[in-house]
Amino acid sequence: MLINEILELKKSKNALILAHYYQEDEIQDIADFIGDSLALADKAQNVDNDIIVFCGVHFMAETAKILNLDKKILLPDLEAGCSLADSCPADRFKEFKKNYPDHFVVSYINCTAEMKTLSDLICTSGNAVQLINALPKDLKIIFAPDKNLGAYVMEKTGREMVLWNGTCHVHDQLKTEYVINLKMQYPDAKVVAHPECDGPVLALADFIGSTNAMLKYVKQNENKQFIVASETGILYQMQKNNPKKEFYVVPVDETCACNDCKYMKLNTLEKIRNCLRDEKPQIFLDRETIKRARKPLELMLDISKELRII
Ligand code: 13P
Ligand code: SF4
Repeated sequence: MLINEILELKKSKNALILAHYYQEDEIQDIADFIGDSLALADKAQNVDNDIIVFCGVHFMAETAKILNLDKKILLPDLEAGCSLADSCPADRFKEFKKNYPDHFVVSYINCTAEMKTLSDLICTSGNAVQLINALPKDLKIIFAPDKNLGAYVMEKTGREMVLWNGTCHVHDQLKTEYVINLKMQYPDAKVVAHPECDGPVLALADFIGSTNAMLKYVKQNENKQFIVASETGILYQMQKNNPKKEFYVVPVDETCACNDCKYMKLNTLEKIRNCLRDEKPQIFLDRETIKRARKPLELMLDISKELRII
């Protein structure tokens, strides 16, 4: 069957399957490694395999290619994009940047390779606060593309930054009303939220962090019930690692808790089998883009290692 075919192809082609926590459950089950964007970037930099199948979205697979020029990076569905990356086209950002010639550009990893070439430092939701805190206090900063993560980082670090006006369609749509409804139903539940949610939702959270950080929090916290303001895929590992705890994802409206990232959900087992078999679709980037995009990414990984975040 499909899973056996994937496992055999993976072995015969010396391939590695990396997956993000927002992937379908069955994809998480066949992955060699599951992680948040930071852990996935770090992992992608340190593998011996000839092929990496990236079960995530386009900017994640691009990041793996930037860090692994000579490896084949496959993305099961090339249409797996990201609304946040789309909210910051590089040509528009280039114009915007001209207004702030003395600013240092920190970009969230959820952006295109071309955006990365316009950045001085990349961050993820797993290290943004620590990285900004590590920068010289008098440095003027532009933060792109996520205005919600940017505002959260400003609040945590007490630093002013110029923010690009971008958002993620999945997290930004979550409303306080539905968090409060769940809190009324489960008053003892702790609220965990991804920092891509907007300020009023974050203000209701007991814990804010990356997908990895939320998973760690719910495991270590003694509470039995958790309200989760993030994408539904994260519930799979939460429930698997904590079978006796209960998790309630914040719904998008009265009828449905379907806050799925439509891009993440484009990957399927069948597409993974096909891409391993055909060795396509592949991520291609020109050498100059790779060279320029690699600099701010490597800086992120170096500082993260220094700060012992990875
Ligand atoms: P994490 O890095 O926290 O996994 O987030 C990635 C992402 O795309 C969230 O929407
Ligand atoms: Fe992009 Fe949002 Fe999907 Fe994450 S959940 S990949 S930020 S669209």
